[in-house]
Amino acid sequence: MRKRISTIVLWVVSAFLALVFLNAGWPKFSDSSGWARAFAQWGFPAWFRLLVGAVEVVGGVLLLIPQTAIYAALALAVIMLGAMGTHIVHGNPTAVYHEAVPLVLLSLVIYLRKRRKANGQASTNSQSIGSRTAVLLGLITILGAMPALGQIPDKFTNLQVLSKDLSKGGLLDVMKGFTSGLGVRCQHCHIGEEGKPLTTFDFVSDTKATKQTARVMLRMVQVINNEHLARIEKKSASALQVNCITCHHGETRPPRALDEILFEVISAQGVQEAIKKYHELREKHYGGFVYDFREGALNRLAQKLQAAGKNDDAIALLTLNTQVNPKSALAYFFLGEIYLAKGEKALAMENYKKALSLEPDNPFAKKRFEELAK
Ligand code: HEC
Ligand code: HEC
Repeated sequence: MRKRISTIVLWVVSAFLALVFLNAGWPKFSDSSGWARAFAQWGFPAWFRLLVGAVEVVGGVLLLIPQTAIYAALALAVIMLGAMGTHIVHGNPTAVYHEAVPLVLLSLVIYLRKRRKANGQASTNSQSIGSRTAVLLGLITILGAMPALGQIPDKFTNLQVLSKDLSKGGLLDVMKGFTSGLGVRCQHCHIGEEGKPLTTFDFVSDTKATKQTARVMLRMVQVINNEHLARIEKKSASALQVNCITCHHGETRPPRALDEILFEVISAQGVQEAIKKYHELREKHYGGFVYDFREGALNRLAQKLQAAGKNDDAIALLTLNTQVNPKSALAYFFLGEIYLAKGEKALAMENYKKALSLEPDNPFAKKRFEELAK
């Protein structure tokens, strides 16, 4: 009876391990797999990855053949120990739990196979070698798995806003919404290094201020969507939700209005610097939705400058506007207004005329032009 149970256990465990190793070994033959990236990051050459893959695949098959099972299990255990060592060397000791379960099961297979062999040969000696090996491997496994117990990456331990039942995929979707909404990478909020695998990151820690702010933002967005927007009675079929990107537009801080930014530069560094800044931002962001490069922004700013008595700055920005938005009749009209205010009638006329050539029905430009023509 005991023997029957141990036979069943042996075959179930062997079959399970064969599947695990075939599954782990096969993708290692692909140069575009995650394994290829991981092995490269660990500094191993491609042949080593192929070798590990081959041992896993062949070992997985040989586990199922009684005569070869012990050797296969030993070879696979060496691979598992090597993998654990790699995690530790690369500063990620908690990842050794990945190999812990297979290692325990491999030890079990070795133990059971050795016992059968020993029973068959009535040799107590080989049995004790078998059980010693099993005990040793089991101990190494338990010691290796200890640090992992407290922090299992598949489980989230510090979610204060998001639902605790969120699946791994669901959480990653939320996080990807953060990275694209703010135009950043995971390490903007989490402790980790660019280029290192995510398994080396500390996602639980709250030390980065950006992560704490992100929590505030997350709560704010939930209130906006669940409490305020939910109360709109006539919601369209394509009802929108507020997201990080709604305000952040792919920037770490929500961008301020273009005219606000330029006004600040003019006040601090003068209009020439502001024009430089405009070209810089336009170069980088034109066609995107971060800044408004349509004619209105510069026209509004010019009016503000004129009201503050900065006519020359206003003229410089309106001239810029006629260059970047050559079809802006309003930019020419405002230029006319400022020249008129300065008493430069000829220049004023010229600009009203340009405004009218672009927009013949513009009533304001028409009125001014007729007044001046008298
Ligand atoms: C804008 C900041 C921000 C960015 C960028 C970000 N996260 Fe997060 N992440 C958070 C916040 C905030 C939480 C905690 C949420 C909560 O308390 O409910 C969190 C929680 C997590 C957790 C759960 C940790 C735990 O055990 O509690 C994981 C895992 C995680 N993030 C992974 C990622 C990954 C992977 C990326 C990159 C794709 C990423 N995050 C990008 C802010 C960010
Ligand atoms: C309603 C608009 C709005 C939405 C939606 C929004 N934010 Fe913000 N966010 C702001 C404002 C405003 C600031 C403050 C900018 C400043 O003055 O530094 C800010 C600042 C931040 C900061 C700190 C920036 C820094 O470096 O100082 C983080 C991180 C952040 N938001 C993350 C998020 C995340 C993640 C989301 C989506 C869950 C989000 N925000 C959604 C408006 C918004």
